[in-house]
Amino acid sequence: MTTAGLEGIIAGRTGIATVGKKGAGLTYRGYRIEDLAEHATFEEVAYLLIYNRLPTPGQLTAYKKRLQGLQGLPEALRTVLEQIPASAHPMDVLRTGCSMLGTLEPDGQGGRTEASIADRLIASFGSMLLYWYRFKNRGERIDTVSGEDTVAGHFLRMLTGAEPDPLKKRALDVSLILYAEHEFNASTFTARVVTSTLADIYAAITAAIGALRGPLHGGANEAAMELVSQFETPATAEKGIMQMLEGRRLIMGFGHRVYKNGDPRSDIIKSWAKKLSEAAGDTTLFDVSERIEQVIMREKKLFPNLDFFAATAYHMCGIPTSMFTPVFVISRTSGWAAHIIEQHNDNRLIRPLGEYTGPDPRPFVPLAERS
Ligand code: COA
Repeated sequence: MTTAGLEGIIAGRTGIATVGKKGAGLTYRGYRIEDLAEHATFEEVAYLLIYNRLPTPGQLTAYKKRLQGLQGLPEALRTVLEQIPASAHPMDVLRTGCSMLGTLEPDGQGGRTEASIADRLIASFGSMLLYWYRFKNRGERIDTVSGEDTVAGHFLRMLTGAEPDPLKKRALDVSLILYAEHEFNASTFTARVVTSTLADIYAAITAAIGALRGPLHGGANEAAMELVSQFETPATAEKGIMQMLEGRRLIMGFGHRVYKNGDPRSDIIKSWAKKLSEAAGDTTLFDVSERIEQVIMREKKLFPNLDFFAATAYHMCGIPTSMFTPVFVISRTSGWAAHIIEQHNDNRLIRPLGEYTGPDPRPFVPLAERS
């Protein structure tokens, strides 16, 4: 018997996260997401995931300094980024950048470990993306050593070239915490499958970026933005969504394979989306989104997942829509790395079976006899 989409199948053991577990909810290495989002920073969470413990104050200072020191890009990588067309999707820029970096700074050489490469990628994915973006859009060759000591601050400064707004910086930081890890989701499982063949961390993360790009997974935050930005008022949104539901269309940013009674990350990002909208004096997008949430609950009993209100939050942070999923990559690299390390430490090739539904054995027809 097969189960479509491996729904409900336990596909491996992990000590990294619980997702929707009774009595626990979403936890990273035993810490509740609500506590992490309230009290921690993304750098603490990345350290927790990759190094399996919360950093002490001294360790955190050293870790932030280390990430800051890894923001620069080798010349050969900058040259490759300059060749990628302006029309490319930023996810494909990161996929290519990850792959290229793997040829320049290979795993297992120069004292590199999976953990140190994860740090390098977390620190430099924003650099790759925005080096390419600013070169293609404004003809600038920016210095990607931003001087910012947080991943969120680095991204925002690279995006605009200006001092990041503290509220936007913290909102982005919280979103990175929320996006960091989520157990055996499609991209993480992809990373584990690749790792199980004993391929290196660059191969695993490049493949994971490919899996995250699709709109049923990470790409949903971009698709949600395209949806909500079509409507100018909550009333037109309600009308439009009702028509979509009549046409049995998927509403991006709603539903979840595991959470059937709500995604605990959604309320947190929603509160940030609201805070940012109020601070900007423009709650249109938030009001439209909230109405869509009410309509989908009333009509389909479906909850928003993290991607839905992340769209409003990211838009209010000034992040271009096509960069929403790449921002997710920067954060999720910490979770992917934790899983790659865990898989490696207790590895067995992941190779399930398929239930055959093709033709019975039949005689081969030589080419000359086929019509
Ligand atoms: N919009 C409209 N209907 C939806 C829906 C959505 N976003 N998500 C689920 N449903 C409906 C399905 O059509 C199905 O209805 P049916 O029983 O009448 O056929 C029912 O709810 C169950 O959904 P199912 O497709 O079995 O859920 P799944 O576990 O296979 O899929 C998702 C989970 C996330 C892929 C799915 O909810 C989805 O496509 N959501 C939109 C994309 C998204 O936001 N992805 C990000 C996930 S974090």
